[in-house]
Amino acid sequence: MKKILITGALGQIGTALTARMREKYGTENVLATDIHKPEGSTVVENGLFEYLDVTNYTAIEELVEKYKIDTIIHLAALLSAVAEAKPQLAWELNMGGLMNALEVARIHNLKFFTPSSIGAFGPQTPKDQTPQVTLQRPTTMYGVTKVSGELLCDYYYHKFNVDTRSVRFPGLISYEALPGGGTTDYAVDIYYKALEQNAYTSFIDRGTYMDMMYMPDAVEAIIRLMEAPVNQLINRNAFNVSAMSVCPEDFEKAIQKHIPDFKLSFEVDPVRQSIAESWPNSIDTTCARKEWNFSPKYTLERMTADMLEKLNKKK
Ligand code: SER
Repeated sequence: MKKILITGALGQIGTALTARMREKYGTENVLATDIHKPEGSTVVENGLFEYLDVTNYTAIEELVEKYKIDTIIHLAALLSAVAEAKPQLAWELNMGGLMNALEVARIHNLKFFTPSSIGAFGPQTPKDQTPQVTLQRPTTMYGVTKVSGELLCDYYYHKFNVDTRSVRFPGLISYEALPGGGTTDYAVDIYYKALEQNAYTSFIDRGTYMDMMYMPDAVEAIIRLMEAPVNQLINRNAFNVSAMSVCPEDFEKAIQKHIPDFKLSFEVDPVRQSIAESWPNSIDTTCARKEWNFSPKYTLERMTADMLEKLNKKK
């Protein structure tokens, strides 16, 4: 990984990953791209940035050639709740963008990463300690694009020898960029509202367990997987990764240790609740741990302390 192109760099993962990769690999070696260009963004101002619409194959190829790229980190995609509201657009962006990026990777012999998600599982998937290889019949458009994306990456690896790598991310919690319309977004909102209002109304119901992870662990996971020697990867694509299996009341208790009068209430959104219920309660991360030494550092307690401290500083 000497020259890295990141798509969707202004999104929740991209913002944190771009900063970390610039620090690790050199500012001049990381090209951030996005279809948006908000003023005042550190991603745009602190290094190389280009406008890129990933549904335009030629535009990706031109940037790869211009900057002599050897690795693509393809993050541009719609998240679950937005994809459910705009399923045709989700297919066009999530699959069309992925196909274009994979084709550029094949033709220019690039290393490739794109995230899958716990959304690639469905109601028939075993709910607890979901195995690495299992039944995947998602019922959301987001899940359909994620499971198709996993298969497409496998296909490009086996058929064309493109070095594709991927993880199934759980809900990601971060204090920089906000997530863009996912089902697990409540787990980010809750910290903002805890500091602003001492209270949060959750759109996910009590007792609904989903996997989560803190952004620094997610960023480290991408870097570790991309740097893992090829012969270490048995499972190859879309490794299960997670740091905790949690429900809204777990966040409530963790936040109350810092803000004792914090109150959690519920106003369930049926769309996002049914998406959450179609996903696992907890996934088994053994393969990621064994094959490339995945080892998240943040527990719910440690993450909560850090989130509240970082968000307090931003106020
Ligand atoms: N955080 C994502 C979502 O909720 C899951 O991949 O859509």
